[in-house]
Order: sequence, then structure tokens, then C-alpha cells
Amino acid sequence: MPPKLVKILNDSYQAVKNDGEDVIRGLSRSPKSLPPKYFYDDHGSKLFEQICELPEYYPTRTETSILKEYADEIAQITGSRELVELGSGSSTKTRLLLDAYQEVDNYFTYIPTDVSGGILKTSVLDLQKKYPDFTIEGLLGTYQQTLAYLKSTPKKSRTICFIGSSAGNFPRQEFDNLLNQITRSLQPENYFLLGIDLHKNQEILESAYNDTQGVTAAFNLNILSHLNWRFQGNFDLNFFSHEAIYNQAKSQIEMYLYCEENVTFSLDILDLKVNFQAGESILTEISRKFNLALLPTELEAKGLKVRKVWTDPQKWFGLILCQT
Ligand code: AVJ
Repeated sequence: MPPKLVKILNDSYQAVKNDGEDVIRGLSRSPKSLPPKYFYDDHGSKLFEQICELPEYYPTRTETSILKEYADEIAQITGSRELVELGSGSSTKTRLLLDAYQEVDNYFTYIPTDVSGGILKTSVLDLQKKYPDFTIEGLLGTYQQTLAYLKSTPKKSRTICFIGSSAGNFPRQEFDNLLNQITRSLQPENYFLLGIDLHKNQEILESAYNDTQGVTAAFNLNILSHLNWRFQGNFDLNFFSHEAIYNQAKSQIEMYLYCEENVTFSLDILDLKVNFQAGESILTEISRKFNLALLPTELEAKGLKVRKVWTDPQKWFGLILCQT
């Protein structure tokens, strides 16, 4: 069977056409901010892969250890014929789930989805080789585009997984909206698997986002390179520096780019000029850390019934399996 490769989702699946409008909105506001999805051009996705290998960056390793132990159980409880992953990247951790599903049945579809075309295409090809009997179908698009597409293609036996704690990128209200969209993309008795990073000591958190090799700094700065090529911009990365702090009150890591001088840059395709005062920052990402005792109530309120919760011995990371 030839690989299905990658389907490019477009605006017909999207409620609002907004390519770049979110950039204009974020950079015109005070304080300035950018949506974290702009980290992930092909280079950004590679940098994120490197972050996952850093000694300080515990989330990937910890979630992998939980999946190693419980992937079989997840595959058995759900027994799904289709697994859709939001923000799949290289699908490295997901292979643990795919191996487990392979044990259950070879008749299986895996749908990785991502905003980064390079990494998606490479991993679809690799996965089709590793799982020749599976149908592998990549979707290139945002979460919104993906969920709208899924809603239009309902399945009796579907699991949506959103692992890696990317849910932490959403402020509370937006996370609420996302959960609504996820619920609407599922049929009764479908499953939703959520992987989330949990509360822990501030030093551990801050060093995970300020690594000594500077990979996270390069990842953060790359958001500006991405804007430069995508929207014909002239951001000079030398003017900016990376910092991540833990906001205790909000239980979230906040990643900033600080501009060190008074300067103006432009994004020609968006017809946008951006003025910076020396010391002014752009908030590029929040990464919320969750309380495993509270989240199930939030999920239940959305009609997502919690079936099982797994964690590691240190309780650093959690996996929650819900059913609609
Ligand atoms: C991909 C959103 C889960 O928040 O830990 C890693 C992204 N940013 N280092 C995270 C990230 C800086 C990551 N997520």
C-alpha cells in the first residue's frame, strides 16, 4: 500500500482565516506576545527535538517512562482503531503507543498532525516503514484546523492524544475552549489521552527552560527567524536575549525575548512596524504546570469522563485517559 503521506489542511476547515493576524495582534499589544505555534518551522522543530534530549529537560524522559510502563494498558482499555495526535512532531514517544496498538490489532490508522511540514513528512515516511500494515496519514495544520477536520470525519473508534504537555501553552480560558473543540471532534465512547507536566520545585522548572547549552535560547530566538522568512521581516536576533522565569502565582513558566535597544523592525507581508523600547520583552510562551488533583474535575465538566490516571514515582508528569 503506498503511503498516504500528508494532507494539507486549509482554511475551508478553519472558522476564521488568520494567517499572521495573530502575530499582528500579539506584537501590537502591550506587553507584546507571540503565539507559541510560530516556534515550529522546520528548524524550530529540530531545536525542540534537541531540547527533549537535554539533561535539564525532564518532561520528555518522564512521560516516556510512564508510556513505557502503561502503553499496553492504554491500548487495551481504548482498543481504538484510530489514534490522532495533536502536535505530533517526530512521534518518538508515540511509537510506544503504536507498538502497543500493534499488539491489539494490525488494522489501525495513525494520524499525526503538526504545523511543521518537514518533520511531519519525514516521520510519516519513517512510520510507514516501521508499521507497514498501519494506515498512516499526516495532517499539516493548526490544532483548530485539525479539530475542525476531525469533526467532519467522525469515527466510532477514535482516540485523540495530546501528550508532551503542549496543553500547558494555553491560558485557562483558551484551554477550556480547546477542550470544547476536542469534545466536539469525538463521538460517544471515543477516548482522549492528555499528557501534562505537574507542579514541582522552582529550580528544577527554571533550569529545564534555561539550559546551560543554550538550546532553549536558540529555540526561543528562532521564533523571530521564522517570522522573518514567513512574513518578510527584518528582526535582528542579535538585539534579543532569552529568559524563562517561573511565575509562582500562575504556576507557569513564562518565556521571554528581551530587546536590548530602542529599535524598530518590520514584517512587510503583514504591513507591520514593531517598535521596541530598550528592555521591552515579548512573551513567546507560557508553559503551565498542572495539579493532578484538580484537572480531572475540569475535564469531567467538559463531558470528558476520567477513566484512568498514571504518573511517575516522583509525580512530575501525568497522563489522563478520558472517555466521551
Ligand atoms: C512543547 C509546549 C510542551 O512547554 O515544555 C520546551 C515547549 N519550550 N522548552 C514546553 C518548550 C521551551 C514545551 N512544549
